[in-house]
Amino acid sequence: QGDWLALRPEGTAVLVRAGLQHDWFRHEQRFWYRGAMFRHERPQKGRYRQFHQIGAEVIGPQGPDVDAELILLAARLLQELGVGHLVRLKLNSLGSPASRHAHRAALLAYLRTQQLPHEALERAERNPLRLFDSKDENIRAVMAQAPCLQDYWDADSKEYFARLIALLQACGVAYDLTPQLVRGLDYYNLTVFEWVTDQLGAQDTVLAGGRYDALCALLGGAPYPGAGFAMGLERLLALMQVAHVAQSPLQAAVFVASMGEQARAMALGLGETLRTMLAEEVVMVHTGEGSFKGQMRRAERYGAKVVLLLGEEEVARQEVTIKSLQHQGKQQRVPMRELPNVLPRWLADASNLDQVALPC
Ligand code: HAM
Repeated sequence: QGDWLALRPEGTAVLVRAGLQHDWFRHEQRFWYRGAMFRHERPQKGRYRQFHQIGAEVIGPQGPDVDAELILLAARLLQELGVGHLVRLKLNSLGSPASRHAHRAALLAYLRTQQLPHEALERAERNPLRLFDSKDENIRAVMAQAPCLQDYWDADSKEYFARLIALLQACGVAYDLTPQLVRGLDYYNLTVFEWVTDQLGAQDTVLAGGRYDALCALLGGAPYPGAGFAMGLERLLALMQVAHVAQSPLQAAVFVASMGEQARAMALGLGETLRTMLAEEVVMVHTGEGSFKGQMRRAERYGAKVVLLLGEEEVARQEVTIKSLQHQGKQQRVPMRELPNVLPRWLADASNLDQVALPC
């Protein structure tokens, strides 16, 4: 009651503030984060007051190769999430701070001579670039004649952008050069980018980011350069629905099925051993009632690559049956002590199949 709350609108400034306070940036750093963000915006489909982002930031190194690395990471993420074919990359450069300042002055001078609504003029005085984002037809017409940022790039900004484009072309990344792309946040310089889709209506940006070399200094720290991106999870999920990507609550690589009291106890112990052994994989052990057939269905629902079966016979002989859910149900009974040698091969086989099946 009566408390004041500060709700973070995004992760970048938050991370930079925390990093400066706790001295994380002495050495080059790469971060990722996930969490709820809050914005006091007019809610509409795809635009919420509370939403979630996954973000990545690189603080320390600077250069077009760092920007390309982030863009490639984002592209791979979208691809692997099954929505790569529904998005396209918009790319622009805001130039160096010096070229931005020169452009800002020219832009403001131009806008002051135009018949703009009072509110738009006020916005322009705060940040004239934002008017390039406007959805208002009259403002768009004014902005179409406005001084162009690209004409104010200095030689370094031009070279930086040319090198970035060469890197993206060499890696086969498709992009649309978009001179109007200025981004809503004020801390960017040089590279800015957005992945947009035509599947979600007006709120069409799924993932966005850019370089922010002045932010650390702006927040009172040393001038560490930075760059990164954030993806909106609500928009991502909406797009995954459009793409019919199955959203299983949990994906398990290995599913341990068992039948009988002794086997059930053995299965729990085996699950623990496998979780230690296969640190990267999710291992799920069936608990509760259920026939072998029902347990197999459960394994399929969790997308298991391999099922380990423990029945009375297996327990009596200290063996385990390995069954593939991909190679037409191929199966093999092995002594329990052999499992650490055999299981990784089965999982690797299954992953190879996965890769062949991935959409390109
Ligand atoms: P942003 O463009 O403000 O950038 O947000 C990134 C993404 O978060 C958007 O593309 C969108 O998918 C999602 N998003 C933003 N606002 C909302 C909202 N009200 N409702 C639903 N989704 C939303 C940033 O936040 C920067 N921190 C990105 C960045 C990281 N730049 C450098 N590093």
